Amino acid sequence: MDEDKILSGDKTDDAEASLEKSLRPQTLAQYIGQDQVKHELSVYIEAARKRQESLDHVLLFGPPGLGKTTLAMVIANEMQVHIRTTSGPAIEKPGDLVALLNELEPGDILFIDEIHRLPKIVEEMLYSAMEDFYVDIVVGQGPTAHPVHFPLPPFTLIGATTRAGMLSAPLRDRFGIVEHMEYYAIPDLEDIVKRTADIFQTSIKPSGAHEIGRRSRGTPRIANRLFKRIRDFAEVADQDAIDETIVSRSLTYLRVDQDGLNETDNKLLRTMIEYYDGGPVGLATIAANIGEETDTIAEVVEPYLLQIGFLKRTQRGRVVTIKGYQHLGVPYPTND
Ligand code: ADE
Repeated sequence: MDEDKILSGDKTDDAEASLEKSLRPQTLAQYIGQDQVKHELSVYIEAARKRQESLDHVLLFGPPGLGKTTLAMVIANEMQVHIRTTSGPAIEKPGDLVALLNELEPGDILFIDEIHRLPKIVEEMLYSAMEDFYVDIVVGQGPTAHPVHFPLPPFTLIGATTRAGMLSAPLRDRFGIVEHMEYYAIPDLEDIVKRTADIFQTSIKPSGAHEIGRRSRGTPRIANRLFKRIRDFAEVADQDAIDETIVSRSLTYLRVDQDGLNETDNKLLRTMIEYYDGGPVGLATIAANIGEETDTIAEVVEPYLLQIGFLKRTQRGRVVTIKGYQHLGVPYPTND
């Protein structure tokens, strides 16, 4: 490959990367959906700013792809502070946490994604950091080991987790602000798709945006991903605007069904019906049967199927509902 090509390739990649970046809203006003969460946060942000204090620690709950990281960045922007982002599994030992905390300036935000996956010893160190802005660390080894009291600037911890139940009570209780993110309504997803189309300078008909919104599992990340693939199909078909027809045709190729479910969703429902008479069946059993991680089922697959009423939770396990049977075109078993 000649050098010019390599250079121009880099340029294109840069352009794509900067488009990706501009997809993220910068302010609460630009952030579409999650109205309740936005309204509450706007009050707490304004109050903290008026008092010239750091924002209280924030915990964001919700399925993946709903914009928890984006929201953390928006909060930092609205507070006009720096944000450091990391994730639970990336902080392996207390020293890693101290290194992160050490870089913070007063008011800064530390964002920890997947905070339920922090090692216990690191989590325990966070307690004093969050509550009283200090950590006690042990310096040296063996007989020379001694504790050092390490004061921290006031900072805001924003934690994000997909698993409400997996966070220990002591950690959960140290967050002053707790927000639950919900799956997005279709009109919000339509607006997100229209905004994305605008940024990518692609024309889209309202029917096209609606169809993508309707089939995105309530999730902006999925809506944007589908949009990009559909844009490719439209481009190759020389179609100047994305409409419902090209969306439907593309989604067939992408194996996204009429209700926006993918192959894993349908495999789960079908397996439950065919092998377990629709349930009740436990999460781990389902996961083993369809060859997925139990965590993926619990965090990604099941929550949406529960949300749209295709599955329900019972004491003895998950059960496919009438709606779930109807979706697959299987008659619902009756008692007689
Ligand atoms: N892109 C992804 N999620 C978004 C949201 N909630 N608002 C605006 N743009 C987005």
